[in-house]
Amino acid sequence: LQIFVPSDTTACSLGADAIAAAIELAAAQSGADIELIRNGSRGLFWLEPMVEVETPAGRVAYGPVEISDVHGLLKAGLFDGNVEHPLCGGLTEEIPFLKNQQRVTFARLGLGDPLSLEHYLAHDGFRGLQQALSLRPADMVQQVMDSGLRGRGGAAFPTGIKWKTVLDAEADQKYIVCNADEGDSGTFADRLVMECDPYMLIEGMVIAGLAVGANQGYIYLRSEYPLAQRIMDEAIVRARAAGYVGANICGSGRQFELEVRLGAGAYICGEETALLESLEGKRGMVRAKPPLPALKGLFAKPTVVNNVLSLAALPFIFDKGAQAYADLGMGRSRGTLPFQLAGNVRQGGLVELAFGVSLRELMEDFGGGTFTGRPLKAVQVGGPLGAYLPESQWDTPLDYEAFAAIGAVLGHGGVVMFDDTVDMGEQARFSMEFCVVESCGKCTPCRIGSTRGVEVIDKIRSGQQPEANLALLDELCTTMIDGSLCAMGGMTPFPVQSVMKYFADDLRPLADRER
Ligand code: NAI
Ligand code: SF4
Repeated sequence: LQIFVPSDTTACSLGADAIAAAIELAAAQSGADIELIRNGSRGLFWLEPMVEVETPAGRVAYGPVEISDVHGLLKAGLFDGNVEHPLCGGLTEEIPFLKNQQRVTFARLGLGDPLSLEHYLAHDGFRGLQQALSLRPADMVQQVMDSGLRGRGGAAFPTGIKWKTVLDAEADQKYIVCNADEGDSGTFADRLVMECDPYMLIEGMVIAGLAVGANQGYIYLRSEYPLAQRIMDEAIVRARAAGYVGANICGSGRQFELEVRLGAGAYICGEETALLESLEGKRGMVRAKPPLPALKGLFAKPTVVNNVLSLAALPFIFDKGAQAYADLGMGRSRGTLPFQLAGNVRQGGLVELAFGVSLRELMEDFGGGTFTGRPLKAVQVGGPLGAYLPESQWDTPLDYEAFAAIGAVLGHGGVVMFDDTVDMGEQARFSMEFCVVESCGKCTPCRIGSTRGVEVIDKIRSGQQPEANLALLDELCTTMIDGSLCAMGGMTPFPVQSVMKYFADDLRPLADRER
C-alpha cells in the first residue's frame, strides 16, 4: 500500500515530517506492508499536510492532518486503504480546487518523490529534451516563438525573441541564468518547481542552452529556500550521472553544465541586472540597460535570463508541441499561468489556469473567499509593486493586456487577498517603506523618493495639510515612475496610486473616516 506524505517546505512547516515518522512507526509496529513515499505538495496548501493513500479507484486525500490525528486515522483503518474519517476529502483528483485547474507545467506536481529520476521519466520526463535534440537551434527558438511563451518572472517579454537575440549574438561563451530569486509577496510557484519537480527545471535549462548555444547554466537561488537548494543540487548530480547534464547530453556529444548559486536575501537581486552583478560576486546593484543582458549579460557575455516558470514551461512545449501550448489562453497571453493564492484566503495554494478566467473566479471559485469569512476588500496581484484592486476591477480577465489596461500587472502570478479590516493607508505606506528597505540606492527618485513617500503618507494620515500633501504624493509618484532606473522605483508608486484612487478614505486620519 502506497502512502504519500509531502516533504516540501510548506507541508514540513506544518508538521509533515512528524506525521510521516508516526505513520512509519505504526506500520513497523503493526507489520503493515506499506510504502511511504515523501512526495511534494500537490499545491492544495489549505489541506496541508495532506496525506494520500493509493486505492484501486485512485489516490484518496486526508487533510489537513495534524500529528494528533494520526492515531485516529490508523485506528479507522488507514493501512487498509479505505477510511471513513472526517478529514477524508475523497479522491484527490476529484477535489474541485484541483480538478478545475489546467495543470500543464505543474501536471506532475506532488505525484511522486521529487528526486526519483525513474518517476520523472515515467511521467514524460526528458521527452521534451529528446525532441529538442533533433532540432536545429533556430528551429528550437522558432518553437518557443510559436508557443507564444512570455516571461513568467513578471515582465512578460516574449521568450522566443529574447532567445533569438542571444542565438544571433556572436560570442565565444554564452550563458543561461535561471532567476530563482522568487521575492514577490505571496509567491511560491518557483519554489514548488524546485522542491517538487526539480528535473523539469533542469530539462528546461538544458533545452534553453542547446537552443541559444550556451554550455553553462546557473540557477540564482534565494538563500531563503534551503530545501530547494538541497533538492536542486542533488537532482543536478543525479541528472549528470544519467547523462542529461554534462559533457555528452543523451549521447549527443553536446554539452551543458549547470550549478546552483545562492543569493544573500535582497529583493533587488530578482531584477535581472542586479542578479547578474551578484552572480559575478559583486554587490547587487542595478545596471543601466542597454546593453541588454541578452547581448552583454553575465561576465559581459550574451545571457538568457529566464524565470523558473518560463524555463519550466519548455519541457511541455517541446514534448507536446508549440501549438498545444499556444492553444491555451487568450489574446497575446498564451498558455497557462500558475497563480498563487495567498493572504486572507480560505483555500490558499497553487492554481494553474490558462489565461482568461476572471480574478473574481480565481478568488471565489478556487480561493473560496476570505479565511476570516469577512468581506473581501482588496487584492494585490503581481507582488509588492502591483496595484491594489477593489471589487469594481475583479471581473478583469487574467491576461497581461487586460491588466495593463486597468493600470495593474499580473507579474509572477501572486494574488494576495485582504478582508475589510485592512487599512489601505497603511498598505500604501508599506509600499513606500518596502522600497526604502529594498532600493539598491543607485538612482535618486527611488532612493530618496521612497523615504519622502513614507514621510508624506504619514503627514496625510495624521491630518497635516492633507490636500497639499496628497498633491505632493501624486507628484512624487510621477517622478518615481518617470525617473527611476528599474521597476523597483518605477513600480512602487502603482500600489500607492491605486490606494489614492480606489481607497482614498483610508488615507484620511482615522478620526475623519466614514466608518
Ligand atoms: P523589462 O521589460 O525591462 O524586460 C523584460 C525582459 O526582456 C528582460 O529580461 C529584458 O532583458 C528582456 N528584453 C527586453 N527587450 C529585449 C530585446 N529586444 N531582446 C532581448 N531581450 C529583451 O522588465 P524587467 O525590469 O526585467 O522586469 C520588470 C518586471 O519584473 C515587472 O513587471 C515585475 O512584475 C517583475 N518582478 C518580478 C519579481 C519576481 O519575484 N518574480 C519581483 C519584482 C518584479
Ligand atoms: Fe536601484 Fe531603485 Fe534605482 Fe532600481 S529604481 S536602480 S532599485 S535605486
